[in-house]
Amino acid sequence: MDAILVTGNGPLSGKIPIAGAKNAALALMPATLLSEEPLTLTNAPRLSDIKTMSDLLRSLGSEVTSLNDDLVLALSSQNLDNLTADYDIVRKMRASNLVLGPMLARAGQAVVSLPGGCAIGARPMDIHITALEALGAKIDLKDGYLHARAPAKGLIGARHEMRFASVGATENFVMAATLANGTSQLVNAAREPEIVDLVECLRKMGAQIEGEGSPVITIQGVDRLHGATHPVVSDRIELGTYMLVPAIAGGEVELVGGRMNLVTAFCEKLDEAGIDVSETANGLRVKRRNGAVKSVDVKTEVFPGFPTDLQAQMMALMCAAQGVSSLEETIFENRFMHAPELMRMGANIEVHGGTARVSGVENLKGAPVMATDLRASVSLILAGLAAKGETLVSRVYHLDRGYEKLEQKLQAVGAKIERVAGK
Ligand code: EPZ
Repeated sequence: MDAILVTGNGPLSGKIPIAGAKNAALALMPATLLSEEPLTLTNAPRLSDIKTMSDLLRSLGSEVTSLNDDLVLALSSQNLDNLTADYDIVRKMRASNLVLGPMLARAGQAVVSLPGGCAIGARPMDIHITALEALGAKIDLKDGYLHARAPAKGLIGARHEMRFASVGATENFVMAATLANGTSQLVNAAREPEIVDLVECLRKMGAQIEGEGSPVITIQGVDRLHGATHPVVSDRIELGTYMLVPAIAGGEVELVGGRMNLVTAFCEKLDEAGIDVSETANGLRVKRRNGAVKSVDVKTEVFPGFPTDLQAQMMALMCAAQGVSSLEETIFENRFMHAPELMRMGANIEVHGGTARVSGVENLKGAPVMATDLRASVSLILAGLAAKGETLVSRVYHLDRGYEKLEQKLQAVGAKIERVAGK
């Protein structure tokens, strides 16, 4: 397995381009199942998760073609000849569960493996199940698979309030409701930019939806959806991750394609920590205000709060900040796997349940560390940029799921970083 070798190399400056959002693309791709006409996605991210989703859709009978150096995905689902999403694909990527809603709406049935646990938590499917049952679906669990069936005349529009604003359950419900009979209303809907992007694409396909980005989304079912072309929204988590490069290492970096309104809560915390973020003609420019980084307290929340997907990266910054910070993780039950690895680099972290207390240290020291999940692994890379000496991050297949050309993007701003063949 490959590893990445990072050597602390002082302040970093230059430009980093931001790609299309992984978590938007993984919801947009299954939308192809809702129509017999072609769906074209541009600004697609080039990531292993996208290839996994492509393989899954192909296994169901969709055609998925990558064009223009994988920046364009051409999808077409004229006839679905398999309605089962196999465990061996779903266990690799939880987002595979996003074929459930569209398959139910289009084909009236679906068999989708439960994803199984992952490093950051149990990640059950109960919110997805109750949401789709509200539309009239019958869903049974058998041999680790969800067996779902719509009523003979199709799903039935309904009002449903979710117990928690689940991103995936919102996406499954909204996609299913586009073809339901009648009107549906989802209350306590997730408000993430990736939901807004999905709705904008569905609307181009002929769906009648209002309220995206607010806690209440209303969907008027239609008989069929047609094809569309849609650009994937910019990746706010990749953006936030790379905004921390000049914060943790010093220097000044422009994030090309970044938009402030995608990372508002995150920017408020950076401002508190003494990091300046300004809008440029092409994106965002980030640098320390006056040399020091101050410790700040962080609590992850659903959008528009501080994103859980940036918690690990923020912890890396706090390890090298001046003072003591508290990071409270409220979305996942086990998302501090990066803490023991950061401690191998000299970080001072105490984890008590869902809260980590971080006392900033003068210098992090390079060390061999292990990636455990996507965002934990990139937090180790960030720490390595600031550490004295060499940091070898192993199991970087986690990284390749969510960060395209990571070494090249960091080399472009002066980082000493390379991929080495695993031991
Ligand atoms: C999406 O996952 C993202 N993935 C995650 O990003 C992100 O961390 C998460 O939203 C929260 O923002 C994609 O969009 C592909 P949830 P999702 O349903 O939809 C619990 C990354 O690093 N829950 O909002 O799976 C669940 O266990 C990934 O890019 C239930 O209990 O997240 C978790 O604790 C990681 N029952 C919380 O809700 C359910 O039926 C949030 O889950 C569903 C979820």
